[in-house]
Amino acid sequence: MPTIKDILTTMEYGPAPEDSSVVTDWIRRHEARFGHFIDGHFTDPAQTFTTTNPATGEAVAQIASGSAADVDAAVSAARAAQPGWAALDGHARARHLYALARHLQQHARFLAVLETIDNGKTIRESRDIDLPLVIRHFYHHAGWAELLADEFPGARPHGVCGQIIPWNFPLLMLAWKVAPALAAGNTVVLKPAEYTPLTALAFAEIAREAGLPPGVLNIVTGDGETGAALVRHPDVDKIAFTGSTEVGRLIRQETAGSGKALTLELGGKSPLIVFADADLDAAVEGIVDSIWFNQGQVCCAGSRILVAEPVAERLEKLLRNRLTTLVTGDPLDKSTDLGPIVDPVQLARIRELVAKGVDGGATLYQGSAPDGCYYPPTLVTGVEPASVLCTEEIFGPVVTLTPFRTPEDAVALANNTRYGLAASVWTENVNLALDIASQVRAGVVWINTANVFDAGAPFGGWRESGFGREGGRAGMSAYLAGTQPAGKGREAPLPPPVATPAPALPAAAIDRTAKLYIGGRQVRPDSGYSYVTGDPDAPTGLAGLGNRKDIRNAVEAAAKATGWGRQPGHNRAQVLYYLAENLGARAAEFASRLESFGHSPSEAREEVDQSLRRIFWYAAQADKYDGATHHTRSGHITLTQPQPLGIMGIACPDACPLLGLVSTVLPAIAMGNRVIVLPSPSRPLAATDFYQVLDTSDVPAGVVNIVTGPRDALAATLAAHDEVDGMWYFGTAQGCADTERHSAGNLKQTWCEDGAARNWSGPEGQGRLFLDRATQPKTIWVPYGE
Ligand code: NAI
Repeated sequence: MPTIKDILTTMEYGPAPEDSSVVTDWIRRHEARFGHFIDGHFTDPAQTFTTTNPATGEAVAQIASGSAADVDAAVSAARAAQPGWAALDGHARARHLYALARHLQQHARFLAVLETIDNGKTIRESRDIDLPLVIRHFYHHAGWAELLADEFPGARPHGVCGQIIPWNFPLLMLAWKVAPALAAGNTVVLKPAEYTPLTALAFAEIAREAGLPPGVLNIVTGDGETGAALVRHPDVDKIAFTGSTEVGRLIRQETAGSGKALTLELGGKSPLIVFADADLDAAVEGIVDSIWFNQGQVCCAGSRILVAEPVAERLEKLLRNRLTTLVTGDPLDKSTDLGPIVDPVQLARIRELVAKGVDGGATLYQGSAPDGCYYPPTLVTGVEPASVLCTEEIFGPVVTLTPFRTPEDAVALANNTRYGLAASVWTENVNLALDIASQVRAGVVWINTANVFDAGAPFGGWRESGFGREGGRAGMSAYLAGTQPAGKGREAPLPPPVATPAPALPAAAIDRTAKLYIGGRQVRPDSGYSYVTGDPDAPTGLAGLGNRKDIRNAVEAAAKATGWGRQPGHNRAQVLYYLAENLGARAAEFASRLESFGHSPSEAREEVDQSLRRIFWYAAQADKYDGATHHTRSGHITLTQPQPLGIMGIACPDACPLLGLVSTVLPAIAMGNRVIVLPSPSRPLAATDFYQVLDTSDVPAGVVNIVTGPRDALAATLAAHDEVDGMWYFGTAQGCADTERHSAGNLKQTWCEDGAARNWSGPEGQGRLFLDRATQPKTIWVPYGE
């Protein structure tokens, strides 16, 4: 034990261990064996696995290994409890969530110590960061339960939610999943990660103590197989997953076509950009909080430092000094900065990735770490952008440092990743900070700060970082089925399959054929063929038979039209009003085309009128569908801005050939997206007539591209295309399944529905839901005052 004189001489901290007896007693009371928590009771564990303390390698407890039968029992309990839970009014559910928050507060110290023992994160983190955020999450969502009927009129819960969480923030991820699900009236089956099941089981006990009704919350422990059984279970209505991109992709494929709602919060390789005018000392502390927090086992860790050349050397020097002052060791000691890595498997993975990077010529600077399951804080320089260290999620305390010359280079390097979770920007120039924040493709951007979270601010990613948000209004809506038509889902009656295109006609017929519309021009289909539209016995005309090549060309054309999304909403609104005017001028022509499809004259006129009104409505929304500022922490402005998804594929419904097209294309382009539209295959000619209207309306080339032909095959091509960021499909059940499955490649957002189940001419054919689906929020944190 060092004396005070020793400490004053060396300025080293003396040991300050946290008392862990409260956890030891709890484990002993449970005889170090835990079953699942199903329908308000702990089961007797049959098959078990061991959970260990990564700081010591010692076994902590035996945990039940969940079988498919256990998952089934938990889902049945959740199903049985769901109607009663949803039938409670919002105030009654709010009281339950409020009670949970209060009880968590009472047990906060116990939970913090338990988390540190099971996961290895430092007690300073579990006590001062994780637990306060957990508690705040339950209070915040008690509020949403209270306000649900007023704030989300007409919305309903999904039903039973299957939730699968990782080991890096075991209790916090539970809170992020369970609180909004319960607030919305869902019941839950949650599977914690196999390395860190204990705080979830303690939470179950606390929920029982707080009087949560049996079956509302169920916890099934186990590994990936248990998780997979939950994903597959036919009676689960929504899956929410946080974890690796690899498993996220498997889950996307597994749930394709099942009608299950899905949100995925996956990996990241987030940039931290330091400009020459940044406060470098503050940036160094930001880097400590960004990559060395929780041993770098953080999905949004700033694992790539990009630094302006003039200050690169100085920042590197400061970081190398700072590395040597970080204390890696016993996580229960209050003066420890970095604890152990969660498990030897993860440690081996970090070592392997770093060894590969070193083979590629990188230089390592490392702090110190004791023997055992520890990895020292590490800075890597001289690393190529293509190195695994710059591209792979290492999930350890390892950060690369790469210099850049201009802000444009910084943005290009920052966006040179398949992920899009978070970014951090350091500069004293507010113009530059916001400019860079707007250009970085990430769901969360921190300015002059990093890794700040709050229940009131949406968190989530783009691209291979997943889709869906947690926190705030956006997080709540992910647990509500909203205004989805009643027919959606597993029990939905399937519509008759769409007639496949009739055999192609000889090329000679081409001159009489409606062409495709790509890049602002009418073009012949690559196949050179056309097909007969309408019923075989009552053909309505000929349309171009688009193929994969046409889709590729259309995506290329859309990729060039980047200016559309950057225009102010007002400009887009003007273009769309003009579009409506031009459609109005041709109303009679469109009505007679609809009559040729069998509409009565009044039906035809009504569909044209409704289409016109809908264009006006979305034009009006172009500068009104806003983001928000959030009440989060003092000294921060936290705002969200809806961003267009980018390039979207839209497969139109068969019903209402003109209105179906307008109802889906207009919200997408009003929000700044560029679209590739696949019209109804049986009645595409209303869409091809639409070219003329687009041509005369100042819609820039490439913003709307229309490809006629076999809709479902073309939709599959679009869904699989890596440059397409979002996909809406309103067609057959098989087409929904194919679209969702093919979208797993770049994990694009999808909205797939039985096209016949929605009443396109009624209120559910138009609304904020469409704008919501055409955008994704970007959350920007701007601290002030210091
Ligand atoms: P993982 O993605 O395999 O585990 C996360 C959760 O998913 C666990 O509860 C696990 O049991 C469950 N799971 C695994 N396979 C499943 C399946 N087929 N179906 C349903 N559930 C399944 O992550 P793992 O193996 O623990 O870590 C590997 C790497 O993943 C890490 O090194 C890190 O790069 C990344 N990761 C990222 C996280 C994030 O928050 N972004 C969290 C955890 C890991």
